[in-house]
Amino acid sequence: MRVLVTGGAGFIGSNFIRYLLDHEPEVKILNLDALTYAGNLESLSDVQADPRYGFVKADITDAQAVQQAFDAFRPETAINFAAESHVDRSILDAGVFVRTNVQGVLALLEAVREFGVERFVQVSTDEVYGSLKLEEPPFTEESPLAPNSPYAASKAAADLLVRSYVKTHSLPAVITRCSNNYGPYQFPEKFIPLFVLNAIKDEPLPLYGDGKNVRDWIHVADHCAGIWAAATRGEPGRVYNLGGGNEWENIEVARLLLTHLEKSEDLIRLVTDRPGHDRRYALSSDRAASELGWSPAQRFEEGIADTVAWYRENAGWCEAVASGEYRDYYEQQYGER
Ligand code: NAD
Ligand code: TYD
Repeated sequence: MRVLVTGGAGFIGSNFIRYLLDHEPEVKILNLDALTYAGNLESLSDVQADPRYGFVKADITDAQAVQQAFDAFRPETAINFAAESHVDRSILDAGVFVRTNVQGVLALLEAVREFGVERFVQVSTDEVYGSLKLEEPPFTEESPLAPNSPYAASKAAADLLVRSYVKTHSLPAVITRCSNNYGPYQFPEKFIPLFVLNAIKDEPLPLYGDGKNVRDWIHVADHCAGIWAAATRGEPGRVYNLGGGNEWENIEVARLLLTHLEKSEDLIRLVTDRPGHDRRYALSSDRAASELGWSPAQRFEEGIADTVAWYRENAGWCEAVASGEYRDYYEQQYGER
């Protein structure tokens, strides 16, 4: 079984590659990644010698390079993780979000068509549904798309492109929409690793607004299991929400992290809010439970304890990522970006 993974050097993609190698002995994986600031092959150093795994440095917006990779590898399944993924960056510069998250997906859809790929999975996000009020029920797959950040808008646009290829070209694609992931190998610009690493250094934790925005947290391993369930058991054309069923106010997460690290709450600083900051995300995963037999397995309190321990024990990975040092090495190996 040949699986092309795009964006496999990022947080979720690298966890997914490890998940697949652990769960599917017969699999062959090609990881296609542009190695942007968020892509780090050190996150895969433990699997790079595995004969079932290969890597190609390419940009999903480069249609020719994408076609070449599909032609050479002939995947049966393609799973797209490649994206610009950080909301704050999309507020500063939305252009690259449209290029990668929309034009890149178009190039992938064309290659999936051209090479008769049997299953395409677009890894999407709950952020396409916009923001919930505290009293509202969780989003279902029928909730309208109402993205509020340029990041979420670019992901919603990609979802609509995928939908159009399903309808127009009978493309065998599914879309998964997941809530906020936590776990090892997350780039430390995101909330949980940023707060853990700052707290370890006794630096302030910048909490946006009143700190009461609510996120639904899911362990990355549960997300990976849901994506593979959708790839293997999902129905073409269907959208599957993958939620953690685990809503927390940001300030409560910050306190939990500080407790694990035995640090004072005085490190928390309320700072200016993010423009357009979504108040609350929550997902109903009933469809994934009934149709895919999927539900998240990890308890948040345990998963967070393990995650905090991982960042503590992997200072080398964290420092290399923060300094961008690993990029010099890979630029020498794979050429200029
Ligand atoms: P990430 O930013 O950690 O990794 C993105 C990866 O994509 C990197 O390896 C990067 O090098 C690669 N990439 C970026 N632009 C590329 C391009 N033009 N061509 C080829 N590769 C490119 O992101 P992540 O957190 O692992 O998210 C993966 C996917 O999951 C994204 O599509 C994101 O929208 C989605 N998602 C993330 C979360 C979350 O909590 N992190 C939740 C739901 C959905
Ligand atoms: P983030 O990890 O950026 O994910 P997303 O915006 O996609 O949900 O942020 C998670 C929550 O944490 C979000 O409500 C914004 C908040 N946040 C802070 O309060 N401070 C920070 O420094 C960051 C990065 C995020």
